[in-house]
Parts: sequence; structure tokens; C-alpha cells
Amino acid sequence: MNAAACALMRARDALTDLRPQPDDITADALAGLSQTPKTLPSKYFYDAEGSRLFEAITREPEYYLTRTELALLEARLPSIAQAIGPGAHVVEYGSGSGRKTELLLDCLRAPVAYTPVEISRTAVLEATARLSQQFPDLEMLPVCADFTQPLSLPESTRPAQRTVMFFPGSTLGNFTDAGALALLRGMRQTMGVGGCALVGIDLDKDPALIEAAYNDAAGVTAAFTLNLLARLNREIGSDFDLDAFRHRAVYVRERLRIETFLVSQRQQTVHVAGQPFDFAEGEPMQVEYSHKYTDASFAALAAKAGLKVTHGWNDAQDWFGLRLLQPA
Ligand code: AVJ
Repeated sequence: MNAAACALMRARDALTDLRPQPDDITADALAGLSQTPKTLPSKYFYDAEGSRLFEAITREPEYYLTRTELALLEARLPSIAQAIGPGAHVVEYGSGSGRKTELLLDCLRAPVAYTPVEISRTAVLEATARLSQQFPDLEMLPVCADFTQPLSLPESTRPAQRTVMFFPGSTLGNFTDAGALALLRGMRQTMGVGGCALVGIDLDKDPALIEAAYNDAAGVTAAFTLNLLARLNREIGSDFDLDAFRHRAVYVRERLRIETFLVSQRQQTVHVAGQPFDFAEGEPMQVEYSHKYTDASFAALAAKAGLKVTHGWNDAQDWFGLRLLQPA
């Protein structure tokens, strides 16, 4: 058996399966389409094609987020590692952000364990197997769970000095205000009294720069958004006409967020699970939020979740930030 297959088997042995309630795409789509205005959940963007398109977005010149965060992380890692301290149990919500996770694990002093938390069993196992080949001395403790719920972590063999929740990519920004608050509260519970969280946030800035990032000239973001409809058609047999909807992303500064819509180009009826949904010409359906933050808005959100910002790092242009949070 090759090394990759062995790593996958070891990951399976180490898995803590909290048996998360599987996603019900049909029920979620029906619920969203029954609301006024209509909405669909952005968590369904990331099927195989959606994940590929997101990777392509990160390479577009207008999409500054990923490359800015990576450069920031690279430049400030010594000071970040200093603030976190030695012997950390690193916990990541989502199946790992590849390069960012590697950078962090590489730079921390003697981390004891790594726990990716992911609703998809295969994704969490594959991420674990890949990283274990790169960090053979790091204990891998993958968890299959819904990270929007608080969870108790598996204990590392070597005792950890502290738990560090790593949540880069401004993923927090995709949650509603209530969702982000619930997530941070859950993180505070999971990290424990001595724990901390390292969170990546996209910062408020010139609206033109933000809007360009979500309306790239090559149309990759539009394809990414429309793939949500393609996915529903593939997986639940709906009949969305992809040519009859257009991507629109607007920065609403009063709410510090990009609001993304799919706008119906004509009057039409779409069927989902046998149920008809009428769209008027020009009717927008809300499909994603991408919140941006000021120092004040992020500190206020953290405070509501019982957390305080103890350290912060921004790139030279103050476009993107990393924040270290700990229980207040
Ligand atoms: C997954 C949160 C990093 O909101 O910027 C990119 C997803 N949506 N373009 C973001 C996304 C449209 C993205 N994150």
C-alpha cells in the first residue's frame, strides 16, 4: 500500500465521528424559495465544481482577499506564533485551508495536535491524511461534526498548553449576524478558558475595490454564483434556467457587507421538488453575504460572544486583518 493510502487509514482510525445531521438540500432550497425576498443558502456553493471555481476566483486580479491574507500570514507569523505560545492544539473549522494551515503549523513552537472539523467525512479524512504526511510528528485528531454547533474536542495524547481555533479566509463573513455570533460563542466554549482563536477578516475599505473583487471582469464569480443553480439542478432535479439569471454583487456600506443576488432576467416559473416558484422580471434572489469589518464592528461582535481582541495584524494597506481572540 502506498503512503497516501496508509495516511488515509490512519486518519480513519483517529476520526471522532459526532454524526452530524446531514444537509437537507431540498428542504433548505424549498424554505429559502418560500421566503420573501427569495433566498438560497451560500453553504451549497461548494460542491466539487464550486470549490474549483472558488480556487479560480482566488487567482483573479480583483480578488485581493486570499493573496493578501497569505502574504499577511507569511509576514507576521513570528509575532503570531509568539502570541499563541508553545504546545498548541490547533483546531480548524472547515477541512483545512491548505497553504495557510501549513504555514501556521510550521511556525508554531511544538504544536501537539491538529483537529480539522468538517461536516463531510471524506473531506476531513483527506485533509488529515495530506497534512499528516507533511507533519509526521503532529497528532492528527480529525472530527466529523457540524461546526456551527458547540463541540467537545478529542484530547491529545501529549497535553496541550492551549487550544487555538484557526478560522482564516473571512469565512466568518459569510454568516448572518446571528450566525456569526452563534459561531463565535460556540468557539469560545470549545476553546476553553485558556484558549484563543485566530480569525481572518476582510476589512471595510473603498467600496469600488470591494465590489470589483465580487464582480471580476473575467466573470469567474458570476459562474461561481450561478453554479449554485446548476448544483440544485444536478442534485435535486430542479429546473433553473441558468441563462435566465444574472449575478449581482453590491457593497452595502451601512451594513458592511457584500450582498450577492441572482436576478431573474424575465418572468419565469422554476420547479423544485414538484413545487412551482414564480419569479418576476428583475426579481433578485439573495444567495450570499460577505461581511467586512471595522476595528469597532469586529470588537463589538467579539464582545457579544464573550471574547476580546488581544492582538491584531493588518497588511500595509489595511485591506485584510488577522485577529487573536480570547475569552473576555
Ligand atoms: C469563502 C468567504 C472567502 O466571501 O469572499 C468569493 C466566498 N464569494 N467570491 C468571500 C466568495 C464570492 C469568499 N469566502
